[in-house]
Amino acid sequence: MSSMYDASFDGKVLTCKAAVLWGPGQPLIMQEVQVDPPQKMEVRVKILFTSICHSDLTAWKGEDESARAYPRILGHEAAGIIESVGEGVVDMKKGDHVIPIFTGECGDCVCCRSEKTNLCELFAVNPLKTTMVNDGKCRFSTKDGKPIFHFLNTSTFSEYTVLDYACAVKIDPEAPLEKMSLLSCGVSTGVGAAWNTANVQAGSTVAIFGLGAVGLAVAEGARARGASKIIGVDINPNKSIKGRAMGITDFVNPKDLEKPLHEKIREMAEGGVDYSFECSGNLDALREAFLSTHTGWGLTVLLGVHPSPRMLPLHPMELFAGRQIIGSVFGGFKGKTQLPSFAQECMRGVVSLDEFITHELPFEKINEAFQLLMDGKSLRCNLHL
Ligand code: APR
Ligand code: ZN
Repeated sequence: MSSMYDASFDGKVLTCKAAVLWGPGQPLIMQEVQVDPPQKMEVRVKILFTSICHSDLTAWKGEDESARAYPRILGHEAAGIIESVGEGVVDMKKGDHVIPIFTGECGDCVCCRSEKTNLCELFAVNPLKTTMVNDGKCRFSTKDGKPIFHFLNTSTFSEYTVLDYACAVKIDPEAPLEKMSLLSCGVSTGVGAAWNTANVQAGSTVAIFGLGAVGLAVAEGARARGASKIIGVDINPNKSIKGRAMGITDFVNPKDLEKPLHEKIREMAEGGVDYSFECSGNLDALREAFLSTHTGWGLTVLLGVHPSPRMLPLHPMELFAGRQIIGSVFGGFKGKTQLPSFAQECMRGVVSLDEFITHELPFEKINEAFQLLMDGKSLRCNLHL
């Protein structure tokens, strides 16, 4: 096979704008950065749209001390166009539309060759990883040459970023890139958790804890599978209206209850839901989600990110009640293999993307977009670069 390596970009460093984090919880600084050309098996991507996911918030706050590294470019939900490709890349070329994926797929390791997991040995999501796999170096630097660290294999809060070939998925150029950005994290994570991890069946009952974009994507996935009851749980009462517009059939605010939340949900679902999903990043919510499922077969899927050091809030004996618990990363999707067809399904309307983008802002206003998510006002604010 002939390589599609484009020699015209060979070796050229480019300068562009990026939003750089210099310390935990500090406002992102919009500044000029240098982006190295893609090395072997890497691609350089012009980011056109990016949005903020709760995991960016967690990293921004620096809640997980071991994951602190500065300066750093965050961001992992985006869509863009290949600007140039490094040596050896044959499945993508300049001009291709791509979605970055934080859980890569090298295609070759023992995990990628197994149907049982989407966690690639080389490119699985790792918040502690700050450099490229190739040479352990950064592709970003400040104008005076200080390296800027990478984030989640993606670093999309930049006009240009460098990705490993395993972390870029080529999609149909007809697909609206603005919406495809959602497939880079939130929507794939939620819908995939319902479809791939839980395998929600028609007529089944579901409870979703946390109605951000991830939780509502679970609802959309469960609705598409024909779930009969989809109970949304959120401590923010405003999530009820949006939730009902997006497939939630019942809403519960734990703050309004006089009894334990799981008792209420078990009542609503005749003994307990078949599936529960924790999409809040809250440990108490995880315990309630676990106890809300039906004895014997209930399955709880963990999607929220919980900063360390934390342990599961369960007594081992509780597992004898037959309830199961499992984590789902990127909705169990093998990104490069499965996202292109998932994108087609979204375009055909199997899954509706329309309600997820609640705000749009220019890239320069990224700190406002952080605030919108923190205040629970946005699902996704799409930033235009
Ligand atoms: N019980 C129920 N809902 C809660 C609780 C709780 N104890 N605590 C927070 N929530 C709700 C918030 O009100 C919010 O609506 O959880 C929702 C979280 O939504 P977002 O902040 O929009 O987060 P999202 O991007 O959807 O990500 C959800 O998945 O990928 C992970 O790190 C991410 O842990 C995060 C989760
Ligand atoms: Zn995310």
